[in-house]
Amino acid sequence: TVGPDVIDVRSLTSTGHFTFDPGFMSTASCESKITYIDGDKGILLHRGYPIEQLAEKSDYLETCYLLLNGELPTAEQKAQFVSTVKNHTMVHEQLKSFLNGFRRDAHPMAIMCGVVGALSAFYHDSLDINDPHHREISAVRLVAKMPTIAAMVYKYSIGQPLMYPRNDLSYSENFLHMMFNTPCEIKPISPVLAKAMDRIFILHADHEQNASTSTVRLAGSTGANPFACIAAGIAALWGPAHGGANEAVLTMLDEIGDVSNVEKFLAKAKDKNDPFKLMGFGHRVYKNFDPRAKVMKQTCDEVLGELGINDPQLDLAMKLEEIALNDPYFAERNLYPNVDFYSGIILKAIGIPTSMFTVIFALARTVGWISHWKEMIASGQKIGRPRQLYTGHAKRDLPR
Ligand code: ACO
Repeated sequence: TVGPDVIDVRSLTSTGHFTFDPGFMSTASCESKITYIDGDKGILLHRGYPIEQLAEKSDYLETCYLLLNGELPTAEQKAQFVSTVKNHTMVHEQLKSFLNGFRRDAHPMAIMCGVVGALSAFYHDSLDINDPHHREISAVRLVAKMPTIAAMVYKYSIGQPLMYPRNDLSYSENFLHMMFNTPCEIKPISPVLAKAMDRIFILHADHEQNASTSTVRLAGSTGANPFACIAAGIAALWGPAHGGANEAVLTMLDEIGDVSNVEKFLAKAKDKNDPFKLMGFGHRVYKNFDPRAKVMKQTCDEVLGELGINDPQLDLAMKLEEIALNDPYFAERNLYPNVDFYSGIILKAIGIPTSMFTVIFALARTVGWISHWKEMIASGQKIGRPRQLYTGHAKRDLPR
């Protein structure tokens, strides 16, 4: 035992024993100094700082610096970091030809898996994982290039010309510029939307050993290069039980259609013979309110109020939330709206199409993934190699 709640089972290997924990419900795969979560109390800290304070008083690039380096930057360090990120916002021109290999109606996450993985074919000067400088530069490249790649994927899907990054804009303004402006029409970016976007990025920046981060660590433990590891994280994030949930929330609202159908869908969610789940509700770790959801709900109210948006789908979401929160089934199981319930609504209000929601999650989470990858490489962690409980045939001979 190494703490009141932690049993160190590493010595079991020498006795031929191992633990069986499908879904890693009670297995810590590593030590980490990056993010702390107390799911019962609804606490989320990055390097010790509460997420609520970061969302209110910091900005995304400062939060990136904090996650990557362990401390908040001084004014000088921040200016230097922002400038370095801006130096790397463009992607290699040849990377554009990768897009042409995809159908325009491909899911943007399918293209993201391919294009981000392909970065390792371009940036050979940052692939030596044993060189700390290479690790730094690949981390900065990923943070800098993700908005450019995400916007490229969107523009490709709608057949518009790709927009180059603008380094006179902030990280979030630049992303919205590349998403929504065209060479024919450059409109100023709304500060309210840029602020909301930045907050969404901060709230998704890291969340300790979730499925995608664990995937990045597992891939990285083999010595794979950082771009390949992040592509693996993107693939893991895509599923509807993880990052795909924000897209699934909007699809579900479409399916529900009208407030008069809410009760029918709640009954489906409660029926154990029906695979339907209320998307955007529940969390593996938070068995109290997700602290990110609280901030996201507040941002959601601000954005909708500021934009004066009157959207029946958004009214439906609010009604669904209200009815579910008062339903004993959800209360007994501690099922609250998670961060994805509100992020989907804000992204829709900003004008981001549903199919891009998970891409935006991937963009924001890249800094968390790469911070964990760097921490793992620096700690010299062994290759990740889970055991299994074999339930197949005993040895038998071929019948010939
Ligand atoms: N709707 C209806 N019932 C639910 C829901 C839901 N969204 N989530 C959990 N439950 C029920 C389960 O059926 C189970 O009921 P039971 O005890 O009667 O069998 C109970 O609540 C416990 O749920 P588990 O599935 O054991 O919880 P787990 O920790 O394995 O799953 C998960 C968590 C995957 C997030 C789940 O709640 C879910 O699928 N939610 C919808 C998808 C979603 O919003 N995912 C986003 C997660 S946040 C993120 O990735 C950023």
